[in-house]
Amino acid sequence: MRSIEQFGDLQREVIEWRRYLHENPELDFHVDNTARFVTEKLASFGINRIETGIAETGIVALIQGEGGDGPTIGLRADMDALPILEASNKPWSSKVPGKMHACGHDGHTAMLLGAAKYLANTRKFSGCVALIFQPAEEVELPSGGLKMVESGIMDRFNISQIFAMHNSPGIEVGNFAICYGPMMASQDDFDIVVKGKGGHAAAPHRAIDPVVIAAQIILGLQTLVSRNTDPTEALVISVTKLKAAQAYNIIPDQVEMAGTVRTLMPSVRDFAERQICMTARGIARSAGADVDFKYIRSVPITINHTKETSLAIKAARDLVGSSSVDDKIKARMGAEDFAYMLEARPGAMIYIGNGSTAGLHHPAYDFNDDALPYGIGYWVNLVEMVLAGR
Ligand code: NI
Repeated sequence: MRSIEQFGDLQREVIEWRRYLHENPELDFHVDNTARFVTEKLASFGINRIETGIAETGIVALIQGEGGDGPTIGLRADMDALPILEASNKPWSSKVPGKMHACGHDGHTAMLLGAAKYLANTRKFSGCVALIFQPAEEVELPSGGLKMVESGIMDRFNISQIFAMHNSPGIEVGNFAICYGPMMASQDDFDIVVKGKGGHAAAPHRAIDPVVIAAQIILGLQTLVSRNTDPTEALVISVTKLKAAQAYNIIPDQVEMAGTVRTLMPSVRDFAERQICMTARGIARSAGADVDFKYIRSVPITINHTKETSLAIKAARDLVGSSSVDDKIKARMGAEDFAYMLEARPGAMIYIGNGSTAGLHHPAYDFNDDALPYGIGYWVNLVEMVLAGR
């Protein structure tokens, strides 16, 4: 078993990097200063193959092991922050009003840098490690992960397997959690315009009221979840936007509505796309109205592959012990754009405990620096295990 004590010195340095990144958050693809910081650090570790400017501000750096030839595995961290006004009251709070690292991507970046420094010094593996630093994880289509994949990094760097780590408040520091198969949901969005016929609110019989039709559609969509989907197969349909008339006494011509769909199975996702449209259209037509329908497929389901999940579990257990790694965590209905990389290559994502901090995307959230050596240790373990010399 590897002890995390050996990362003690490194941890002090990585804390400084993490807090610097936290003080200087940047959004979506505009993470120029963060990317510059990462690139400078990688170069200072003696890593000489660094490609920058991928998907605008993304970086891939390669560390060659001393054990000779072997495959290349990808380790991915995200670099972007969120448009939130920070309220953590930490001394290293964001210096940029309205932007903050509320999802811990500062910690993810710092941990991968820490592992990079360690691995560049020791190189006790065969083959190659591709360190992937991506922008725009929090952005909807096209996100940074998708653009990095589309830019051809998997082929260009010969990456055969891909791994990621995300912090998780509510899981103790020093613990990890993961599951086989779907670990996070797909995220799709839809827009429906109910097109009726406007009129005076006192004479509804002379109008086709799209407000009442919209109300029926909202309820109809909920029966797709409760009556048409296998209860053991998760589906979330949430209508989140509604826009009708702006007066007490007007029946509008149309109502605009929108919402989001989360699933854990490709077949349920296909069902939702097809059936939301049919339900909305059927209800509208039965009332003499019609709908315009748009379904936007956004992030795919994050599906952990079997072999790589076993490797991730083994790497984590070797670091913190068997009982500190939950390998049967329930899937979460949030989405993660690492899913695009998992569509391109087999791999696995793991949660690392962030302790009892505020939740992700909360103004009081802060990445827990006590987790840093565990994250670094996990990366190092994973590399030395997956790329063990033959
Ligand atoms: Ni995140």
